[in-house]
Amino acid sequence: MPVHALLNIAVRAARAAGEIIVRSMNRLESLQIASKGRNDFVTEVDKAAEQEIIGLIRKYYPAHAFLAEESGETAGKNGESETVWIIDPLDGTTNFLHGFPQFSVSIACRHRGRLEHAVVYDPLRQEFFTASRGEGARLENHKIRVSKQRTLDGALVATGFPYRANVNYIDAYLAMLKVVMEQSAGVRRPGSAALDLAYVACGRVDAFWEIGLAPWDTAAGMLLIQEAGGRTGTLTGAPYNHGGNIIAGAPDVFTALVEALAPHVPERLREG
Ligand code: IPD
Ligand code: CA
Ligand code: CA
Repeated sequence: MPVHALLNIAVRAARAAGEIIVRSMNRLESLQIASKGRNDFVTEVDKAAEQEIIGLIRKYYPAHAFLAEESGETAGKNGESETVWIIDPLDGTTNFLHGFPQFSVSIACRHRGRLEHAVVYDPLRQEFFTASRGEGARLENHKIRVSKQRTLDGALVATGFPYRANVNYIDAYLAMLKVVMEQSAGVRRPGSAALDLAYVACGRVDAFWEIGLAPWDTAAGMLLIQEAGGRTGTLTGAPYNHGGNIIAGAPDVFTALVEALAPHVPERLREG
């Protein structure tokens, strides 16, 4: 398992959050659920998992700051924010709420604006995807690489459908989906963007795209993909920062997907 202290803590925090999530699966009917917007639910489990992660990291690193889905931005002790932990305590809440077994915990550590460490954890399969800048990406103890696929023809592509505020883009999205369905070997909509990105990193899918993501959906997955030799970008292939619209993939499939989608990306979706 990881040798780096920061990555170690991230793994421990993800495991603890995963335990909370999995334990709650046998009482889905009685969970307290609140709505944050159309099709956007938060449960007591999302909150408890996030508090567990933040509490554990803060115990060891009180000066670090947080950007977490449920509690927003929190500065470190003495107002410091050089090191920021970007956290999605439960990515795939809709799946979780339905007992559909595909969700993850996503934790990234950013120092002076650069992603340094990443963990995406699938608590049901107990799979840890980890990366540290310059040290490659791993699934458990094995180094992972993006797939060797060169073309969209033959590629398996993951995506996320618009289903919240981003339903406004449904027509534009359907035009994109049509070309990918026509040109690829298949499209999957698993329901956890962080895990979709981890699957790009280990070659289970050759590429991924989605409209309207948040920083906590993509931060860890981005570092995993970079360290696994893949590429991430906006829908036009420009550098992806965090949040917004993303294309990710094995290098040649990334380029092919950018080209295939280009005629169907409306002006308002061209920026990140
Ligand atoms: C969602 C999942 C989903 C994606 C959505 C995300 P959440 O995250 O990653 O796959 O399509 O865009 O918001 O709300 O379950 O943490
Ligand atoms: Ca999410
Ligand atoms: Ca979430």
